[in-house]
Amino acid sequence: MHRQAYWQSEIEKYHRMHLTRNIPMLKFLDATHGVTEIGHRLFVACTNDYLGLRFHPEVIESAQRCMRCGGFGSSGARLTTGAHPLANQLERELADFKHSEAALIFNTGYMANIGLISTICRSGDVIFSDEKNHASIIDGCKLSHGKVVIYPHRDIDRLRELLDEHRGESRFIITEGVFSMDGTVAPLPELLQLAENFDAHVIIDDAHGLGVLGERGHGTLEHFNILSNPHIIQVGTCSKALGSLGGFVCGTKCLIQYLCQRSRPFICSTMLPASILAASSKALQILQDRPERVRRLRQLSEIAKSIFSESGMAFPSEAIAILPIVIGDETRTMKIFENLYQQGIYLTAIRYPSVPLGQARLRLSVCSEYEEDEWRDALVRIVNTIKTID
Ligand SMILES: Cc1ncc(COP(=O)(O)O)c(C=O)c1O
Repeated sequence: MHRQAYWQSEIEKYHRMHLTRNIPMLKFLDATHGVTEIGHRLFVACTNDYLGLRFHPEVIESAQRCMRCGGFGSSGARLTTGAHPLANQLERELADFKHSEAALIFNTGYMANIGLISTICRSGDVIFSDEKNHASIIDGCKLSHGKVVIYPHRDIDRLRELLDEHRGESRFIITEGVFSMDGTVAPLPELLQLAENFDAHVIIDDAHGLGVLGERGHGTLEHFNILSNPHIIQVGTCSKALGSLGGFVCGTKCLIQYLCQRSRPFICSTMLPASILAASSKALQILQDRPERVRRLRQLSEIAKSIFSESGMAFPSEAIAILPIVIGDETRTMKIFENLYQQGIYLTAIRYPSVPLGQARLRLSVCSEYEEDEWRDALVRIVNTIKTID
């Protein structure tokens, strides 16, 4: 079939299955409100900017100051045209924050996963990957030359059996810290125990744990009171709770030096602008100096949990910022989405292929900057809309 005709037939198929994705135009006015092209104002109930730092005046000022002195673009990859000193500074700050020896910045969290996994997992290695891992982990595994073994979501017993079946081979266990579509938390202490028993490494992508889990928002390791461990390699991103952009890997000095030599997304792509590094650095500093945003996030999450449980709906008990409302049917999910949109609430619908077919959901998320009354009002309307639309 001619390529254009094939693409057209695929688009029509997605449409029939209610899986078409349209890119919504939404200009943010502040951390929790946006406005559409036609001036429709929306309360955004699905941001990844969990601490509202994207609009923090000090974050914006840092980026602006940096841009005024050094221009906007970075002009090349770090190894080619040199790096702004802020890159080293931010890496030091991220490494300290994650209690690691060293860190390396990539342009996005997506590139950090690809750049790490494809570089360190080599032919002859076995990668054990949680079935609910993010696309960037899956793609990193595909690009590596390792053998990939998928284990059921957080199933330690099954993972143990699989590790046992692959004794003698070099092994990596890969998991998200907080799962992006489910809000569940990886059983890190048990994973680490397995890693120690089987001489494996645990790669943990804590994109949604940073700023959320742990008393001070350090992420999944802090949540479990784990400071650091030679078996752990951490991946993160500044694009969620830090309200900025840029992925990173934290690990031993030796690992970071190796990635510098070999990781293609690091070597072959133009570096982030320094203004973005400045924004990330400032956001990280605010998170550390003023952890009250983390506490408020938790309080607002509890409000959502109690309003939903009064209506017989539950979220995973450990979930904080990501509160998925699993509807199942794609058509019904879209109807609820559209109805809420008309009511002025933007609550994104997640469908296949981001989640399996028949597991469509509304991905409710919490931002510490929600006004409590507005948040409560939105939650009640979400619950009522779910009840009325079949
Ligand atoms: C678990 C996980 N890892 C990595 C990424 C990618 O991060 P970034 O948006 O910085 O590319 C995401 C983003 O959605 C994610 O949910």
